[in-house]
Amino acid sequence: MNQPVYELSEVQKVYDGRIVLNINQLSIQRGEILALVGPSGAGKSTLLRLLNFLEPASQGTIRFDGQPATPELDLAQRRRVTTVFQRPLLLQRSVRANLRYGPGLRGQKLAEAVEAEWLGRLGLTPLADQAAPKLSAGEAQRVALARALVTQPDVLLLDEPTANLDPNNVGIIESIIQTENQRSGMTVVLVTHNIFQARRIAHRTALLWAGELIEVGETEQFFNRPGREETAAFVRGDTVY
Ligand SMILES: Nc1ncnc2c1ncn2[C@@H]1O[C@H](COP(=O)(O)OP(=O)(O)O)[C@@H](O)[C@H]1O
Ligand SMILES: [Mg+2]
Repeated sequence: MNQPVYELSEVQKVYDGRIVLNINQLSIQRGEILALVGPSGAGKSTLLRLLNFLEPASQGTIRFDGQPATPELDLAQRRRVTTVFQRPLLLQRSVRANLRYGPGLRGQKLAEAVEAEWLGRLGLTPLADQAAPKLSAGEAQRVALARALVTQPDVLLLDEPTANLDPNNVGIIESIIQTENQRSGMTVVLVTHNIFQARRIAHRTALLWAGELIEVGETEQFFNRPGREETAAFVRGDTVY
């Protein structure tokens, strides 16, 4: 097996003297779709912020391609990772301008054919010149995903990307994530409340609970033969969250 994209060791994140994340060991493999599930407040978004170099860990080490993953990491390295949040922050400009934003930051021009391809793939062609603030939630999230993917990230971090979206938009977004993962080998870390979504698209699924990594395993095994009682309860929906 090749080197993992991320390697976490003895990682803790402390806020106001409280340990909100406490992960002994976690490897994220290149090219996998890893789903992170767990109750609200478990530390899922906090973990994504560490993986996206927005904040440093309080203790322990996170390695990204062997290098320390901290906010000081080289910009070119940090740009290999892109995050899509639950509520996208789009530029208050056209859909097209939003797609051009990432390449522009990198001093590149988004090729017209590539722009047209991404607009088409996400069903955004008729909306290309529409102002982002006028989009529906589902359309805005498709723009956020297209904006992330045109930069061809090595790692895509998704924080509840389809929460509150209708099944049609959920289907489009899941399908693009899977296709891109297969096509380019892009690594995906998907935080989701929706265990059915994890089951549909993740290769591996991990349960975070009160900051602890309870179980991580192949998705099929995680759901059908969980090793821990907490996982079984969560999968059954017995957990109050
Ligand atoms: N910037 C912060 N300052 C203080 N506490 C925080 C901060 N961010 C998150 N927390 C706390 O850390 C815990 C984990 O939060 P979060 O990672 O957002 O959970 P999840 O995404 O799983 O719902 C929560 O108890 C939350 O209140
Ligand atoms: Mg969260």
